[in-house]
Amino acid sequence: MLVIALCKGRFLEPSLDLLARAGIRFSEDVASSRKLIFDSADKTRRVVLVKPADVPTYVEYGAADIGIAGRDVLLETRADVLQPLDLNFGQCKIAVAGAAGSRPDGPTIRVATKYPRITMDHYNARGIPVEIIPLSGSIELAPLIGLADRIVDLVETGRTLKENGLEVMEIIAESSARLLINRAGYQTKREEVRELIQALEKVVVYASR
Ligand code: PRP
Repeated sequence: MLVIALCKGRFLEPSLDLLARAGIRFSEDVASSRKLIFDSADKTRRVVLVKPADVPTYVEYGAADIGIAGRDVLLETRADVLQPLDLNFGQCKIAVAGAAGSRPDGPTIRVATKYPRITMDHYNARGIPVEIIPLSGSIELAPLIGLADRIVDLVETGRTLKENGLEVMEIIAESSARLLINRAGYQTKREEVRELIQALEKVVVYASR
């Protein structure tokens, strides 16, 4: 049985839609249940639900053979996994943002983020001293109440920034949902894994037309 790690949250519905189009269906309503493990109706695939940032870890360690996660978490975790496919949903940008027209208070920029490694790399590459303030959500609040000068966060529609009086200052990277494969499983479960990649490839191409 192939184990597939999916993210809870906004990636869940499009991930389940994609699997359904590839012929993988569940007898229970995965999205509304509180359970964390679901077997497909034909018992050949098992879906496990994890936090978005943890998907690469489950796949890297082989607890899941396959995963669906954003490029953002792959860049942050630097997990050693195969990434054969852009799944063509969840498009967004990883961006530096701040209050319009604002300037950092001192020589060291304080940046609030749930992406400390991406942020550190970005500022190190520019030789700019940075203090990372790690947060796990509602990042946009930090510059509004004096916790940080800037944020590094995902921007999808831009609505959260706009409604909080913030603006994009730099784009660090583009992100979208990616298929992740455990390296060992790609060899030991070769047929099953390749069959699934091919099935997904067909529906991703179909969806993008
Ligand atoms: C994400 C991200 C931004 C927002 C961007 O947050 O961290 O806050 O979505 O979307 P937008 O550009 O379409 O407004 P999420 O909803 O995942 O919640 P979080 O605050 O827990 O990170």
